Amino acid sequence: MYLDKQTAVGVIGAGTMGRGIAQIAAAYGHQVVLVESNPAIREDAEQFLQRILKRMEEKEKIGRGEANAILERIDFQSELSACEGAGLIIEAIFEDLPTKHKVFRELESIAGSRAILASNTSSLSITAIAGVCRLPERVLGAHFFNPAPLMPLVEIVPGLATSKQTIQLARNLINDWGKTTVLAKDTPGFIVNRVARPFYGEALRILEEGIADVATIDWAMKKIGGFRMGPFELMDLIGNDVNYKVTETVFEAFFYDPRYRPSFTQKRMVEAGRLGKKTEIGYYDYSFGAKNPEPVKDPELGQTVFTRILAMLINEAADAVFMNIASIEDVDMAMTKGVNYPKGLLAWADEMGLDKILGVLENLQSEYGEDRYRPCPLLKRMVRQGQTFYPPSN
Ligand SMILES: NC(=O)c1ccc[n+]([C@@H]2O[C@H](COP(=O)([O-])OP(=O)(O)OC[C@H]3O[C@@H](n4cnc5c(N)ncnc54)[C@H](O)[C@@H]3O)[C@@H](O)[C@H]2O)c1
Repeated sequence: MYLDKQTAVGVIGAGTMGRGIAQIAAAYGHQVVLVESNPAIREDAEQFLQRILKRMEEKEKIGRGEANAILERIDFQSELSACEGAGLIIEAIFEDLPTKHKVFRELESIAGSRAILASNTSSLSITAIAGVCRLPERVLGAHFFNPAPLMPLVEIVPGLATSKQTIQLARNLINDWGKTTVLAKDTPGFIVNRVARPFYGEALRILEEGIADVATIDWAMKKIGGFRMGPFELMDLIGNDVNYKVTETVFEAFFYDPRYRPSFTQKRMVEAGRLGKKTEIGYYDYSFGAKNPEPVKDPELGQTVFTRILAMLINEAADAVFMNIASIEDVDMAMTKGVNYPKGLLAWADEMGLDKILGVLENLQSEYGEDRYRPCPLLKRMVRQGQTFYPPSN
């Protein structure tokens, strides 16, 4: 079996993610069936894609007439049965296991036995989704990032029973779509949503301890770290409700490992309805004319904040390698292409010196006596043996 432009693609759910995935597949040249059960959302998705594609044509990002050609390749439908004949079906419905089970059960009875079934889930286990399927070997995770047409990364996640052929075929095709794929083990948060936890969690902890305020932490991460956005700006953009939910899910899924413990500050923000940009107030006030606090631009304080958050991120990245979640290269690729980190965390670790990072973590652990700061055994071993993640360049 082979997947190429001639393969029909099904996308289930035309919400935030589904409509973007349908756009990518249709832009590549596939005939796409986009199934959305809610008529208002179906209508909205069609208008949204019309607007986006027209704008792309005006800005000459796509050729003249291409907007219409791409749209014509998308068939907006309301029933899963419209996916009959699709060689690849990507599910992007609500993040709820029983709902996904229902859809996958139905898809199995509709799709040909050789069709590949993918889920765009961010936090559910692929093995759990495939658990209800008769042919779990053809089920895998294809985790796109928002906005799907713009973010290059797709995490490819095999479940316990996924066949090598399924992984290869889906990965090759998604690569052909122009995406960067990385392979991630079916564990909570895959690569990005696991490794990125301390960007938020440690920033919140620093805030709660009163070491620095919101604006200063954001300033430090941008100015000293080179991150495009500070943790609080980013949480406000993602939505504090969404971010809190991911943290909670990852914490539970890791059997309450204290490293992933959610923060009361974030919980209170959600309870207060301060969800971020979408409610015009979160850690910052986005209402018209609002004045937000200025950062304390103290280089020493900034360095302390940045080093602490970076050390925690590197510890998490090292742990993902240690636990065979992904390769060194894929962990670094995932963070640069999925969430725009300025550098791969493990390359950054080499640059800063693994002994320095380990020292920061050991100091935190001895100061607080909390398991949250325990250094990854891989990091300890590498420092002991004088190793680096990448071969030295000269
Ligand atoms: N939003 C993100 O940033 C993001 C990023 C990566 C992955 N994801 C994952 O992608 C999936 C979708 O997320 P989203 O943000 O696009 O959700 P969304 O709520 O915007 O869209 C889901 C859509 O699926 C539709 N739907 C539900 N059941 C259906 C059915 N049986 N048949 C057809 N349509 C159905 C809903 O009407 C809704 O429009 C989730 O698994 C989520 O975890 C989301």
